[in-house]
Amino acid sequence: MRTQVAIVGAGPAGMLLSHLLAAEGVESVVVETRSEEYVAGRIRAGILEQSSVDLLRSAGLADRLDREADPHRGIYLQWPEERHHLDFVDLTGRSVFVYGQTEVQKDLVAARTAAGQEVHYEVSDTAIHDVETERPSVTFTDGSGAAQRLEADVVVGCDGSFGPSRTTVPAALRRAWEKTYPYSWLGILADVAPSTDELIYAWHPDGFAMHSMRSASVSRLYLQVPHDTDVAAWSDDRIWEALAARLGHGQDGWQLTPGPVTDKSVLPMRSFVQQPMRHGRLFLAGDAAHIVPPTGAKGLNLAVADVALLAPALVALLRQDDARLADAYSETALRRVWRCTHFSWWMTTMLHSGDDPFDQQLQLSQLRWVTSSEAGATGLAENYAGLPIGF
Ligand code: PHB
Repeated sequence: MRTQVAIVGAGPAGMLLSHLLAAEGVESVVVETRSEEYVAGRIRAGILEQSSVDLLRSAGLADRLDREADPHRGIYLQWPEERHHLDFVDLTGRSVFVYGQTEVQKDLVAARTAAGQEVHYEVSDTAIHDVETERPSVTFTDGSGAAQRLEADVVVGCDGSFGPSRTTVPAALRRAWEKTYPYSWLGILADVAPSTDELIYAWHPDGFAMHSMRSASVSRLYLQVPHDTDVAAWSDDRIWEALAARLGHGQDGWQLTPGPVTDKSVLPMRSFVQQPMRHGRLFLAGDAAHIVPPTGAKGLNLAVADVALLAPALVALLRQDDARLADAYSETALRRVWRCTHFSWWMTTMLHSGDDPFDQQLQLSQLRWVTSSEAGATGLAENYAGLPIGF
């Protein structure tokens, strides 16, 4: 097989890239180890930055988003006895949208299917070759067991942190930074109307808690739990009790309404960045190059920002033989990646409690500053609502 751009990974980064390339007349083939149903069904964060929404709109991918996404002006930050609202629109003129990654993925798959995009699901043994030449390729075993070779002008790794792309960059040329946090999140989806109009991020001595949502009738909530937590140890009742305590049920008359839990899982918390994001004719985008902890919901937005930079760079390279944007891609993308890596780390370490009483006082002091000083609030708002693509 031969195509212009071989895309490894059919998650949001890979599918959005194939869409943006096709709009400019560049053809691609996507390969994916998982099934279409698995990729569509996995639960991820639910907040889109203004710039992600703008990009999806300009790419013609926002019809359902514009009907169904819930615009939020800001978030609540709280600690015992105090809850404060930060209004991003007042502070920065930008807002965020509640629209799950699952929904973005459905819209992307629908658009690519309608356009006849070639996607090979359930492939195995994916390997990337000859990226230091002008004729790279991807080999894999397809769903029917046949060995395949996909030749391309460029290969893009959108295959997450466990895919083969990341380590195709030679060890001597890549550098990685990593931080593992000493806690995880227990996340639930519940069939109950959210007990809040906008997201609540709560610091609590028992551990962080968050109230998010997916729709008017589906809530998404999280609890900080120890690293090696077994979900089986957390009955639905225990989860709702811990959420009520940490989110301040009863405080100033606020009530958390529990409901049937439809999904329960433990999420690890990790920061990871690999540079460069380009080696020869291989480019990395999204989780293949960087992982953020979920606090602040940057993962999907960073993937969208990478692809928004990469698509025009590949179009210029392949259609006009102009390599300037492609040559600048890694450095340009990494500026935003490190900004979001810092922001996610900062939100995470400000909000998750440990047993050091000194650290707890610093966290509370930081929270008071962020919620009472316009400068502090604006810094959080600017990062949360998202810096412009290309920042
Ligand atoms: C979510 O809705 O899953 C979500 C929202 C905001 C976050 C993290 C996760 O910071």
